Amino acid sequence: MRIGLVPTMGALHEGHLSLVSLALGEADRVVVSIFVNPSQFGPGEDLASYPDTFDEDLMKLKEAGVHCVFFPSVDEIYPNGFSTSVNVSGLTETLCGKYRQGHFNGVSTVCAVLFGIAQPDIAVFGRKDAQQLAVIRRMAADLGLGVEIHAGEIIRESDGLAMSSRNLYLSPGERAQASVIFRGLSKAAELVLKGERVVERICYSVREIIEEAPLAAVQYLELVDPNTMKPVTKLTTPALLAVAVYFGHTRLIDNVILKP
Ligand code: PAJ
Repeated sequence: MRIGLVPTMGALHEGHLSLVSLALGEADRVVVSIFVNPSQFGPGEDLASYPDTFDEDLMKLKEAGVHCVFFPSVDEIYPNGFSTSVNVSGLTETLCGKYRQGHFNGVSTVCAVLFGIAQPDIAVFGRKDAQQLAVIRRMAADLGLGVEIHAGEIIRESDGLAMSSRNLYLSPGERAQASVIFRGLSKAAELVLKGERVVERICYSVREIIEEAPLAAVQYLELVDPNTMKPVTKLTTPALLAVAVYFGHTRLIDNVILKP
């Protein structure tokens, strides 16, 4: 019997549910965890205000045909005396890791605990959090955890905005402008298709489109190797163009793979 695990922090949307259906296709029994993991939030981040739609989440998961929902308390995951932190170095210094100190340690630690409890044969993560996916893949391989990591494609709203629990924070004005992120990333893919290989020119064009939105503030916009997360200076093999953009207090991330 193959067990599939889909770790989430709740406030479920179609992106999460796409991972669930992927897991249902690959495993005999599917566990979804809902746990807003305090150790991956920095001081001043949105831990206290993280959206909570628990009852609706349960309904969605039941409808999807999930076999088990695991929603532990903080004490169950981090009991008194908990002293372990999993640090995946190298992959965590760029992109989000640069701006969210300790974030990936929190993510890899909680995933290691969840893997230990659920003992899954497979675990499914979304490509929307491409750096997280790379970190978890590295951790699972390095520690010989015996769990296959599967990846789900990015699910988007009709205007291209990547679905995210944090989209709930956007004001109507911010929400209307947030589609510039996808427009920018699509422009990059189009340029590469037309033969553009100069990283600076690609990044400049994307930034220009995103910054057309008066409410957008780009935190980072970088082209990296999709496995190592190290900056790429020449587009010769598929590379990950990753962005983080603030709309007001809301930080949105997105990415696209550029294939030369
Ligand atoms: P959360 O943000 O709830 O996301 C749970 C999973 O859903 C992650 O693997 C994420 O990449 C995926 N996901 C989110 N939006 C998506 C979208 N639009 N399309 C496809 N997949 C999407 O990521 C976390 O929680 C946490 O860090 C967690 C892994 C649960 C550890 O606490």
